[in-house]
Amino acid sequence: MPLLPFGSKVMHKTLLAPSILAGNHANLEQSLKIAEGCGAEWLHLDIMDGHFVPNLTFGPQTVADLRKLSKMYFDVHLMFSQPDKYIKAFADAGADCITIHVEPKYPVAETLSEIRKLGCQCGIAFNPDIPVEKIIPFLGDVDLVLAMTVFPGFGGQSFIESVLEKIKQVDELKAANDYQFRIEVDGGVDLKTAGLCKAVGVDTLVAGSAFYKSEDKVAFREEIEK
Ligand code: DX5
Ligand code: ZN
Repeated sequence: MPLLPFGSKVMHKTLLAPSILAGNHANLEQSLKIAEGCGAEWLHLDIMDGHFVPNLTFGPQTVADLRKLSKMYFDVHLMFSQPDKYIKAFADAGADCITIHVEPKYPVAETLSEIRKLGCQCGIAFNPDIPVEKIIPFLGDVDLVLAMTVFPGFGGQSFIESVLEKIKQVDELKAANDYQFRIEVDGGVDLKTAGLCKAVGVDTLVAGSAFYKSEDKVAFREEIEK
């Protein structure tokens, strides 16, 4: 059941998206239920291809199996060199939003449009060393902008503060053009860094390690979302 950012109350709400990457991969059902059980509406699913990033996670079959267990909004983050070849598989698996990276060479605009044709919302992600100018051509055609606050590939890394300035620029462009996309951060988000992100316009916060390690997950979510 997609929580559409457009025209819904959800649009203005700050959301936590727990990253199941930091869950237990021998029992992802339990990890999903932990996220759902604390009241989180979004679940962030990190899919890595071993090319764009030096790690592998899981594929569409896992997403499809998790889909049967929950109505959470599935926020699928593809860290792929050739995401265009796989978007259909993840749409069929039940993704609500599919986010692709701006860095690799493939038809980005066409792939975003294809994701929408497949019935999903779409996002554009950029790494910490990428200037905002690179994503400007796509800002009018996305539902989500994902600012990576670590170099993707692994959970548990430290938040890169220099990305905050870029997020501020994205938020200014959003206001100036009346864009409706959500602004999401991913990597090294904890209660402290979440505050820095929210101050520059972030409304969607992915948290893996900090979320799954937190003792009181309801309190963690409430603090992130307030
Ligand atoms: C990074 C992934 C992140 C990761 C965040 O490669 O895209 O989503 O799960 O994990 P933490 O919150 O542990 O930095
Ligand atoms: Zn991610």
